[in-house]
Amino acid sequence: MSETVNWSSIVLAAGKGTRMKSPLPKVLHPVAGQPMLSRIVKNLTQLGFAETRIVAGHGYPLVEAVMTNYRVTLHKQIEQKGTADAVQSAQPSDMSGHILIINGDHPLIEKEDILFFMSEFMSQKLDLAVVTCQLKNPKEFGRIVRYHGELKAIVEVKDASVETRKIKEINTGIYCVRAEVLNELLPKVTNFNANKEFYLTDIVSLALEAHFKVGTIAAKSRVAFGVNTQAELARASQYLFRKKAQALMESGVLILDPDSTYVEETVQIESGCALYPNVFIRGNTKIDSFTSVEPHSFIVDSEIGKSVQIKAGTYLERVKIYNEASVGPYARLRPETIIGEKAHVGNFVEMKKVKFGKSSKAGHLTYLGDAEIGEEVNIGCGTITCNYAVDKKKYKTIIGNRVFVGSDSQFVAPIEIGDDAVIGSGSTITKNVPPRALAVARGRQVTKENWSQKKEEEPNK
Ligand code: UD1
Ligand code: MG
Repeated sequence: MSETVNWSSIVLAAGKGTRMKSPLPKVLHPVAGQPMLSRIVKNLTQLGFAETRIVAGHGYPLVEAVMTNYRVTLHKQIEQKGTADAVQSAQPSDMSGHILIINGDHPLIEKEDILFFMSEFMSQKLDLAVVTCQLKNPKEFGRIVRYHGELKAIVEVKDASVETRKIKEINTGIYCVRAEVLNELLPKVTNFNANKEFYLTDIVSLALEAHFKVGTIAAKSRVAFGVNTQAELARASQYLFRKKAQALMESGVLILDPDSTYVEETVQIESGCALYPNVFIRGNTKIDSFTSVEPHSFIVDSEIGKSVQIKAGTYLERVKIYNEASVGPYARLRPETIIGEKAHVGNFVEMKKVKFGKSSKAGHLTYLGDAEIGEEVNIGCGTITCNYAVDKKKYKTIIGNRVFVGSDSQFVAPIEIGDDAVIGSGSTITKNVPPRALAVARGRQVTKENWSQKKEEEPNK
């Protein structure tokens, strides 16, 4: 994007996040399914920033692992000595152009917000800009101190007088700054304050003293929403889920209770679909029109066709379901499963890596794994593919079209059943079955007349 060619960014993410009371570094806590830090970094990389430097410290190896697939560099802040020290740890002395500095714990910032800050910074021809916001309850945020309307300083609450604390305009922790200005000012920051920390906020008064052009950019309160506690983390997720539900309803999706609908932003759902309460739909899921998803279903990275019924309590992960199929209640379809058009998968059925043909049925209590099942097949209740052998390898079951599998049958893979074959109920099938054959593999029934009566007559036997 042309607006960002001359821009780099520094994301501050080294803090411990003590108030999260969690062993996970704060910035890795997920908000509506994605770590806070990933959300920010995704926005920056999608905007085409020349480079993004992440300052990490607490939980560095974990942050590094989460960031491996992003176009960023990590910079270690050995000791968390304050936000100015954090920026210094990013070694900005070799940076040029303009720099956006942003906190890693503000997950609700959108790409459009960032573009707006950059364009304001450029149009006001500033050397340093602080993004500020008016809040009814400014809590612990640094206060924006003005004199005759002109920005004078940012004062942290711990260092603020009672009067200063009354100020409602706060520092969001986002700054736009020319690289050479930042590099001139950073070494001048001291730690003479209540926290004995090197405050990045001090560069405002330092810049004014040095007669640089310093200004503010007004942002929406959403930008200032920072996560410091588990309760705030939950609020951030709720905000995004609610926003997504709202957008879906506006596009014609029927949602019974938007407050208990958990659809991630990355999901696509066509109009005419219905979502019941407590559905959780994640990742790269796509759902075509007129499909209904009943309560307590969990769907991740799946593709679901038109007029499909996902019945209550169904768990779907990386699967594809074609039009007019029905799945559940209480079905579990594991990765690489493909359910054909008009097929039916009923309650307590688990499938893994299965190609399940058009109009086939597996109504109840069944495990199918590593299998190819043809069209119009009936899989009886309690059928099992024994795909895992003593050699610890997985083997495949292939079942042709229109096969009828009687209840309580097992297929010991590798095995192949021809078209139109019939498997007698209770069979353990260990050999291939040719097309149109009947295979029965179970103990023959032995019936002994009056057997129990005989036992009574001979009590010692
Ligand atoms: C900071 C600002 C405050 C602003 C608020 C907005 C300072 C001194 N204060 O306060 O004016 O209103 O953000 O949220 O800058 N970090 C490091 N290394 C450190 C310290 C912090 O990387 O040594 C990171 C944290 O991980 C976090 C960010 O910097 O992402 C902000 O740090 P935090 O301690 O949360 O600062 P606040 O007290 O919130
Ligand atoms: Mg903070």
